Amino acid sequence: WNQRPLSVWRYRELLPVTGEPVTLQEGGTPLYHLKKLGAEMGLPHLYAKHEGMNPSGSFKDRGMTVGVSMAIQLGMKSVACASTGNTSASLAVYGARAGIPAVVLLPAGKVAIGKVAQALMHGAKVISIRGNFDRALEMVHELCLSEGIYLLNSINPYRLEGQKTIGYEVIDQLGEVPDRFVLPVGNAGNISAVYKGLRELESLGFIDHLPKMTGIQAAGSAPVVRAIREGLAVVEAEMSPETVATAIRIGAPVNAEKALVAIRETGGTAEAVTDEEILCMQRDLARKEGIGVEPASAASVAGIRKLAEQGMLDRDETIVCVVTGHLLKDPESVIRQCEPPIEIDADMQSLLAALQR
Ligand code: F0G
Repeated sequence: WNQRPLSVWRYRELLPVTGEPVTLQEGGTPLYHLKKLGAEMGLPHLYAKHEGMNPSGSFKDRGMTVGVSMAIQLGMKSVACASTGNTSASLAVYGARAGIPAVVLLPAGKVAIGKVAQALMHGAKVISIRGNFDRALEMVHELCLSEGIYLLNSINPYRLEGQKTIGYEVIDQLGEVPDRFVLPVGNAGNISAVYKGLRELESLGFIDHLPKMTGIQAAGSAPVVRAIREGLAVVEAEMSPETVATAIRIGAPVNAEKALVAIRETGGTAEAVTDEEILCMQRDLARKEGIGVEPASAASVAGIRKLAEQGMLDRDETIVCVVTGHLLKDPESVIRQCEPPIEIDADMQSLLAALQR
């Protein structure tokens, strides 16, 4: 398998699909060394795995190529999900690729515009509910059970099978198991998926230890962080989650208990970051490293900065932060933070004057 290109399907023996996959060449995303930001934090071995470089611009494509392939394998005729945006964009893309109808439920007014645009353009039936993501997930679950539609949220185990390949790729790219793996946590699917995948590699004898799984949430939406801090066995739902990082605006993560296992069994941790810390890191990644990500994605690196400031990290650690979605997913959050373009008359004098300003 070493001869195959880096992609989800490089690891097909560890995936449940037996037929031809529904694929757009997902995975094989870059792993960037964060030289400047790492130096500022005193962490010379800090990396970002840029999952925004997938076909629809987020890590969800890894799960969807497997999930939609399984829908076809199982003979399902239509697919659905609830989403804070990226899952819906990805499902619309892979539904189109497979040629089966897709229904997506979104929390009205709380989904970044790029994600809605994708779901619409790729031909999904897009329904905005006047409620939050947690309610949308309950509703789509009920809909799928009553109408025989195939549910492709991360309750679906095949989604997580695809997403586990993030861990495999990082090990192949680094040539070793990192000391720490850092992910933004919303519904807690991704952190659980990476953990499951690495446990499998361990039981197959390919690796002999696991990285410290580290979950980062937005402060206004941090039920997993609270459970870790308070040593709880189950996660108590946050009834009114709120954050600028709309992708992870989730109060009742369905995979929360799996995430607790991933964090605890590996000696990892969970941390919460404020919206301000998230946006500050989004700008720093963009301007100091040239890496454009959406707010939820910046949360993972913002969390590491916070843990470093608290003295919680070892300088020698090799740390991989998963940055989950592309900058262009949420242009509105960018426009709100940045000075607008300088508009001038179309003459050279005005241009030179504008440069002096
Ligand atoms: N980052 C981004 C950009 C996301 O879109 C999500 C989840 C996460 C992180 C968190 O991943 O849920 O596996 O813990 N987005 C889902 C969606 C909920 O509907 O697109 P998680």
